[in-house]
Amino acid sequence: TRIDKGGYKHFMAKEIAEQPGVIQNALNHYLTEDGEIVLPDGGIDFTKIDRLTMVACGTAYLACFTAKYWFERIARLPVEVDVASEFRYREPPISNRTLAIFVSQSGETADTLAALRYCSGKVDTIASIVNVSESSIARESDLALPIYAGVEVGVASTKAFTCQLTVLFLMVLKAARDRGAITSAELADHISALRGLPSVINMALEQNDTVRAAARKLSQARDVLFLGRGQMYPLAHEGALKLKEISYIHAEAYASGELKHGPIALVDDTVPVVVMAPRDSLFEKTVSNMQEVMARKGKVILISDAKGLAEASEGVWASIQMPSVADALAPILYAIPAQLLAYHTAVAKGTDVDQPRNLAKSVTVE
Ligand code: G6P
Repeated sequence: TRIDKGGYKHFMAKEIAEQPGVIQNALNHYLTEDGEIVLPDGGIDFTKIDRLTMVACGTAYLACFTAKYWFERIARLPVEVDVASEFRYREPPISNRTLAIFVSQSGETADTLAALRYCSGKVDTIASIVNVSESSIARESDLALPIYAGVEVGVASTKAFTCQLTVLFLMVLKAARDRGAITSAELADHISALRGLPSVINMALEQNDTVRAAARKLSQARDVLFLGRGQMYPLAHEGALKLKEISYIHAEAYASGELKHGPIALVDDTVPVVVMAPRDSLFEKTVSNMQEVMARKGKVILISDAKGLAEASEGVWASIQMPSVADALAPILYAIPAQLLAYHTAVAKGTDVDQPRNLAKSVTVE
């Protein structure tokens, strides 16, 4: 079947807009009506493993990095996460009580496949999270979990990322339940929050015009910093990666608390700083880092919810309001403004959004 842009200017815009629908697809495949999480092929016995190794490249790696925060906090499972090109050559020792998870949109990334082959025969189970179910990575796994995102054409991954996160979050809940790390009431709360995800993502998409206005300002910058703390730290990396990939603006992500150990030296009134900070238990810490930026005339774009903006948006350069969402799901929701910010910045700069220079959709050579 031929894929067209469906009235959008770019595939990336279309794929961003598709997210409520494709996340709903993924939920329909893995969640029964009465809230049971069903993984294919008999699933994974999370009581037989005591650690997790997650390996991927690019945006898929950042999905793994986000899931590390979830697996450790919610399922009490220690997680090692690495980019495939490093993992495959550093000869890490791996115990047979390890579950190895490989995440890949295409299922064909050469480094990720090589990392999978390194783990083969050493670990308890090899699982993969893929968009292409007939791919090499899916075929060589004991268990392949499709993300049901549909064909993704834009080189910069968007809907595959949020679907990867959705499937990973379901795995986290399954692991937490199998290992007795959460009560059935907590599990039910998480499931009902997940079911509400497509509709909060729709609300986030409605902020398109606000994000476009912020992006117009951002398009003048030469360097941009992204800050996040806790589970928002990997997402800061995703925001920076998207911006670099398609707008060619130099962007770096830092853990908010690490700012004072170096990057704050870069901050002046020419450096916009994007702060991803839902009003969660770490909010005040992040805001104090944000104030250090503003004290040095850094221009802050604050992305938060109504409560967070009411408390902390005084003096910021721009603010983007997200709906409120269960704490754990914020990385999925805040991916939307991160994507839109990169998209509109690239459009303002006139770069080739769907086919950025020097990049390929699927990297099948080393
Ligand atoms: C390339 C793409 C990225 C993608 C990465 C991993 O760099 O441009 O968007 O995240 O490969 O690809 P995979 O298919 O393994 O997810």
